Amino acid sequence: MKQLSLFNEPIEKIPVTPKGYKGLAGFHKYWGKKPPEAWSFLIENLTKEKDLILDPFLGSGLIAKKCADLNRRFVGFDINPFSIELTKLCLDLPDYTKLKKALDILKEKIKPDIDLLYMTSTGEIITHILWKGNKIDRLWEKTGRKRIELALPADEVSKLENFVSKAMPIKKKLNLFDNSRINTRKDISLKDLFTSRALVATDKLILSFSRHNGNVHRALMLILTASLGQMSNMVFAVTRRGKTKGTETEKIEVGSWVIGYWRPEQHFEINAWNCFENKANKLLKAVRDTDGGNIVKISNSFGDFTDSRNTSYLKVGDSEVLLQDIPDNTVKLILTDPPHGDRIPYLELSELWNTFLGFEADFDNELVVSDAKGRNKDTDQYNRKLSAIFADCVRVLEPQGFLAVMFNARSSEHWKSLHTLEAMSEMEYVGCYPMNYSAGSVIQDNRKGGLISDYVLLYGKQIAYVLRKKINQQFGVIDNWSAEYPKVGNQQ
Ligand SMILES: C[S@@+](CC[C@H](N)C(=O)[O-])C[C@H]1O[C@@H](n2cnc3c(N)ncnc32)[C@H](O)[C@@H]1O
Repeated sequence: MKQLSLFNEPIEKIPVTPKGYKGLAGFHKYWGKKPPEAWSFLIENLTKEKDLILDPFLGSGLIAKKCADLNRRFVGFDINPFSIELTKLCLDLPDYTKLKKALDILKEKIKPDIDLLYMTSTGEIITHILWKGNKIDRLWEKTGRKRIELALPADEVSKLENFVSKAMPIKKKLNLFDNSRINTRKDISLKDLFTSRALVATDKLILSFSRHNGNVHRALMLILTASLGQMSNMVFAVTRRGKTKGTETEKIEVGSWVIGYWRPEQHFEINAWNCFENKANKLLKAVRDTDGGNIVKISNSFGDFTDSRNTSYLKVGDSEVLLQDIPDNTVKLILTDPPHGDRIPYLELSELWNTFLGFEADFDNELVVSDAKGRNKDTDQYNRKLSAIFADCVRVLEPQGFLAVMFNARSSEHWKSLHTLEAMSEMEYVGCYPMNYSAGSVIQDNRKGGLISDYVLLYGKQIAYVLRKKINQQFGVIDNWSAEYPKVGNQQ
């Protein structure tokens, strides 16, 4: 039997296990990023073209992009300024030829300057430096796929070790907290995270970006933030691979920056230009393959919203405040993925990117449970704030509108705010399904503090019994769809 959507059109897609982050979705890391396929089914089956969709916890902005591609109007908020910048990139991609030209000019004019920072007395350009504490252990030059080890005289190594520069391109100070869970201290500065050489290279890049503006400038800055992790002192070295299988090798492989601010004793310093170019190529390819996508008008206020299909209103700020500007009963579907209890301190982790972009983050109003000393981000304030945001979501939702929440927390305490939704007389819990990811799609999350899978919980506003029954039948095509509530508890 053919399944019908709510609007009596055949359902063509059902959620599958998302394959991972490809193209634009894979260009920039974002903590807790959800693959875009995760949302398609809900958008296509609970809304029509031009309907208004809201996400008060935007993150990477992949939901916004999906909505734009499907001609839905969209409102997105996030307290993280970096998140809005990344979303703007997704919705307003630069022209491929313009971006390529900007990158070609950088390669011609800036790369030679950066090369000088890594050049040996015999003209090799060092691509990888292995540090042990504050001493250089080994060095390589990579040409093509081959990494050739360099043997430099001691005085040259010492010069590289002691490279100092007064140049400090970034005016904003890194604003971190004492938080051992993500290896930070209040007094950490950029000089702890990067060598002076890498900072000088970023200085040269940022200065040269200033000749561009609009979406090309934004793209260049985000290529830089995307490459910061690999440019930093946070890239671990993989040694003794094969130890458990008895095939141990002497080879030292380059790891990657994972999550948090851990600076391993033994770490790699990678040539900053190479890190930048690698990400630039990724974005360039994604822009070429995306073929521009739909043209989206990005407005700065809800009042600017036009009736045209592709308008998105994006704003940096606290959703508890920003939601107040949205009139009652205007949104057809809310799709959201709030911070899940204590799993990811978004602003602390994004502080590196925000610092390079010159953005001050509003730590006070972040919705999170954090271990950081002095932040006072406990479970009670988290539940109070999330309940308030959900209450406003219900107010702005149209009658017969839907709210889908993606959630995952081990502690039942962190589920309390969802129960406030269930307690509201206007809201009906419809059902849920587990969101399974492929191995490649979970790497942007540490899964610590989470259940094995995320859940998508669906609620309807003032929906009649018949509609609820109908949806339950339709959503039955989804693997493991259930009208029951997910089993949660303190699963430690
Ligand atoms: C789970 S993430 C969203 C991830 C997103 N679904 C994605 O695929 O990238 C939750 C987001 O909520 C944001 N956030 C935290 N407190 C907020 C607040 N008070 N108002 C708005 N956004 C907030 C965080 O910055 C983070 O980007």
